[in-house]
Amino acid sequence: MAPTSSTIHRFPQLPLLLLLLLLVSATALASRGHLSPTFYSSTCPDLRRTVRSAMAEAVRQNPRNAAFLLRLFFHDCFVNGCDGSIFLDSTPAFASEKFAIPNNNSARGFELIDAIKARVEAACPATVSCADVLALATQEGVDLLGGPTWTVELGRRDSRAAFQAAADEEIPLAFDDLKELVARFRAKGLSARDMTALSGAHTIGQAQCFTFATRVHEARNIDADFAARRRKNCPASGSDALAPLDSRTPYRFDNAFYRELVAKRGLLHSDQELFNGGSQDARVRRYSTDAAAFSRDFAAAMVKMGALRPSPGTKGEIRLKCNRIN
Ligand code: HEM
Ligand SMILES: *[C@@H]1O[C@H](CO)[C@@H](O)[C@H](O)[C@H]1NC(C)=O
Repeated sequence: MAPTSSTIHRFPQLPLLLLLLLLVSATALASRGHLSPTFYSSTCPDLRRTVRSAMAEAVRQNPRNAAFLLRLFFHDCFVNGCDGSIFLDSTPAFASEKFAIPNNNSARGFELIDAIKARVEAACPATVSCADVLALATQEGVDLLGGPTWTVELGRRDSRAAFQAAADEEIPLAFDDLKELVARFRAKGLSARDMTALSGAHTIGQAQCFTFATRVHEARNIDADFAARRRKNCPASGSDALAPLDSRTPYRFDNAFYRELVAKRGLLHSDQELFNGGSQDARVRRYSTDAAAFSRDFAAAMVKMGALRPSPGTKGEIRLKCNRIN
């Protein structure tokens, strides 16, 4: 309702109220933050090069480092948005997300992020958030393994708390079925298509036997030779023995993961759920033959996941050390 002169006459304070309302919503928008690829271009012009050279060394030492960070990015963004909350150690005020069920003895790469952050701090003190360092390093890691590139949006701020209970409840599990997986991504504003594309991250890296033991010992929708091969190094009771998520090209970021799914060689139950007679079958088939379609959708979904924001009203900070608040 536009204020007419007669309403203004009856409520002389109305224009002031409207102005106040405008101001309040403007600050709300500002604190939510607008991400931009050029956020640090004047305050830290060499940021990208600094992160890239650190990642190039790390991936040369161990290509799995790229997988560690990609998974950390996912597990950070799914818990109160991409706010670096996953990096925080426990304090009397909160329990670390590192010990949440999906992360405990499984999420890795924390020392690598600390090392990259230290280099960034040396070049641009107290300027770049840990959440942004992770977003940039993740993209470089994917790129270094031959995956798609995308423009990393920047300007995130680091949380002043960790959210272990949310990590327990909101991060998907290998035992989830398709319906559950779709619901968990939907709860973050990500579509089934985003989910299926993002799951292509499992074209790199390794999983521990306890995450796939039930599948290779009991499942029926699995290639028999593949299951037998995986059982050799993985007792039914589970262990921490490793197997590649994509047996064909474990450290090439390609679309072979989807070809494995079509051949019923998905390692995790949750992976094979994407191609098990359900709503994502056609998309998996498409990605398995059309690498460009996968690259496009993966890149777009990474930007979307990377834009998940912390709860409104939290200002955050630029953390100096990623494992503790300032
Ligand atoms: C769709 C739901 C998902 C489930 C249920 C899931 C579950 C898992 C599990 C159980 C592992 C093995 C962890 C271990 O044994 O230590 C794993 C590894 C991995 N996940 Fe996912 N994941 C999902 C989606 C994603 C997404 C969206 C990404 C990133 C965009 C991602 C990136 C990775 C990477 C890179 C690894 C390998 C890490 C390593 O080598 O240590 N995952 N995932
Ligand atoms: C995490 O794993 C360690 C070592 O296996 C275990 O002792 C601890 O209880 C686990 N923490 C939580 C919170 O489950």
